[in-house]
Order: sequence, then structure tokens, then C-alpha cells
Amino acid sequence: MNFTDSFLKRITNAEKIVVFTGAGISAESGIPTFRGKDGIWNKLKPEELASFNAFLKNPDMVWEWYQHRRSIIHEKSPNAAHYSITEMEKYFDKVSVVTQNVDNLHRRAGNNNVYELHGNIERNYCIECKRPYNDSGLELENKQVPKCDYCGGLIRPDVVWFGEVLPQDVFAESERLAAESDICFVIGTSAVVYPAAYIPLGAKQAGSCLVEINIEETELSQIADYSYFGAAGKIMPKILDEIKKLKTSI
Ligand code: APR
Repeated sequence: MNFTDSFLKRITNAEKIVVFTGAGISAESGIPTFRGKDGIWNKLKPEELASFNAFLKNPDMVWEWYQHRRSIIHEKSPNAAHYSITEMEKYFDKVSVVTQNVDNLHRRAGNNNVYELHGNIERNYCIECKRPYNDSGLELENKQVPKCDYCGGLIRPDVVWFGEVLPQDVFAESERLAAESDICFVIGTSAVVYPAAYIPLGAKQAGSCLVEINIEETELSQIADYSYFGAAGKIMPKILDEIKKLKTSI
């Protein structure tokens, strides 16, 4: 893969990095994406599984689906793309990961600054008193939705469902980091879900260099400064190699 001199110059001069990720970065870990040919939403209806109304209508079914997703994720591991981003932390003043993913793989890969716009499937809380639910007691084979130990309320996954508000503090901090970034990598996202997709747009509008890594063109390809088409697990290690060469030769 050849990187242009202008891209390499941007890497050399960059100090603050934002990495905006979607389900595609976890595809090579064996975790299905949502759209595209094998996407989850091709087989299941999001309004029946990933909304608060769906949960109230059939809490056991929604809970079971998240238990199923957790059991898949627990068998998988971060891939070379996740680990490349973690290693990038050594070569820049700050690397911030702003992710739409709830699979916890960036944290498992050791990234220190992770902003989870859509929550984290490993966390749960009570819909009534909002207390976190003790995940250690969470047997994955539990198909029935658990009840809160304090108030008896239903326990739900700490993920943002369709129609719900993103965690405002996380979103605001992500917007600020994107606007201040020198480079905003956009990896494995169709960039069609808002407000999350505003993050790379905000970075671009503030003058950040937008670098897209995807297996195909997306909504962002028209405005990206650089697009590298291929699997993130193959491309990110190559970008890391260039960073190491450039940042250690200074
Ligand atoms: N490497 C890089 N990109 C990949 C790879 C790969 N190995 N495999 C797939 N992709 C790309 C696809 O081309 C697509 O552009 O990843 C993207 C996945 O898009 P989506 O499935 O739409 O996932 P995402 O963009 O994360 O969805 C955003 O939608 O359903 C909601 O809350 C959910 O966070 C999710 C949000």
C-alpha cells in the first residue's frame, strides 16, 4: 500500500489524533456488522430489538438477544486494527477513540481514552433507579431479564437504543476532541447514523485531516482527505508502520 507524501507529512506534524470507529473495525474479530451483505439489520428488525419500546413490550426477548450478543463477543478478541490504534498512543500527544461500537474491544485492546457514544454491552443498569447492575452475577445463559436488587425494576443493557439520547457528556467531549484533532481517522463505519456521524463532519469542518479506512465507499468518501480501501486489520498495521518510521526518525 502506498501512502502519499502529503499524507505522510500530515502524520509527521500531527499531535492530536481522533479515531472514530464503527462495527467494521470489529468485523475481522468475527463480530457481525449492522449493514451491508451480512449485516444484522438484514435479518432482524432494529425496532423489535434495539429500542426502549421493544424492551418494554418483550423484555425477555430483548434481554436474550443482548445475552446472545455478549456470548459472541466473549468468544472474540480485538484484532490488529484495535491493537494498532492502542500502539499509536506511543507516537502522538493524544489519541482518542470515539466509537459507536458497544463491544468493548477498544478497552480490551488497551486503549486509554475511549469515548463510547452508544454505550457498552458489558454494562447494565436498572430502568427505575438507574443503579448499575452487578455484572459479575450475570450468567450468560440467563434468558430471563433480571430484576434490580434494590427496587425490583427491570435490568437493561447500558447501550443507546434507537430514538434514545446519546450520553451528552461523552458526545460533547467527543465533538471537542474532533474539532481539536490534527487527524481524524474514520474506520469501519457506514457513517449513516446520527448524531454519531456528526463527529467526523465536525472534525473536517474544524480543519482536521479526515482519513477513511473502509472496504467500500461511504457517505464520507466524498469529503475525506484520504481514503484507503481494504480491511482495517490489514491497513491499520501498515499505517502504524509508517507512523513508527516517521515519528522515531524525528
Ligand atoms: N474493515 C473496514 N471496514 C469494514 C470491514 C473491515 N474489515 N468490514 C466492514 N466494514 C465497513 C462496511 O463497509 C461499513 O461501511 O464497516 C461499515 C459497517 O457499517 P454498519 O454496519 O452500518 O455499522 P456502523 O457504521 O458502526 O453503524 C452505526 O448503527 O445500528 C446502529 O448502533 C448501531 O453503532 C451502530 C450504528
